[in-house]
Amino acid sequence: MISVQTGDITKLAVDAVVNAANSGLRGGGGVDGAIHRGAGPKLREACRAIGGCPTGEARITPGFELPAAWIVHAVGPVWMGGAHEEARLLHSCYRHAFTLALEHGATSIALPAISTGVYSYPKREAARIAVASMRGFEGEFDEIIACCFDAEQAEIYRALLR
Ligand code: APR
Repeated sequence: MISVQTGDITKLAVDAVVNAANSGLRGGGGVDGAIHRGAGPKLREACRAIGGCPTGEARITPGFELPAAWIVHAVGPVWMGGAHEEARLLHSCYRHAFTLALEHGATSIALPAISTGVYSYPKREAARIAVASMRGFEGEFDEIIACCFDAEQAEIYRALLR
């Protein structure tokens, strides 16, 4: 089942939360900053040990102090006008994130709108890719939550899911 929720992804008690990370896995602002604050300092150490992650892929760590068991760090593309493989890379990072979560036994997963904040991906196009990716993995999870930070984003997802 796919549902749309508005609020802070760090509060969700799901098996896996997806982070919108950067390729250095260094932490940052936005959802990345919130996840690092919520998970505590051990997350930074775990990310440092992994070293990094190419754009379009994902890496997994424990959730540490978050309610979620796992954090899947997915690296979306920076929007550069649309002719730099942004769509392929965004698809790819969702696919990697779902696959990694499944490999670690997750049956529930929450995802933010990757690349639509600091990375400036247009919200509607990004949501189309996110929803297509969620539909592709719907049968593999008990619960997929599209976690939106604001009501406008949530309405974009709901319209696409109707
Ligand atoms: N819960 C859910 N969604 C959130 C939260 C939160 N706590 N905080 C922010 N968001 C939303 C934003 O509103 C946006 O819709 O997450 C979406 C993704 O925005 P960003 O976090 O800016 O991610 P992104 O655009 O992928 O940029 C990644 O930003 O923080 C840095 O280290 C990160 O360099 C990386 C870049």
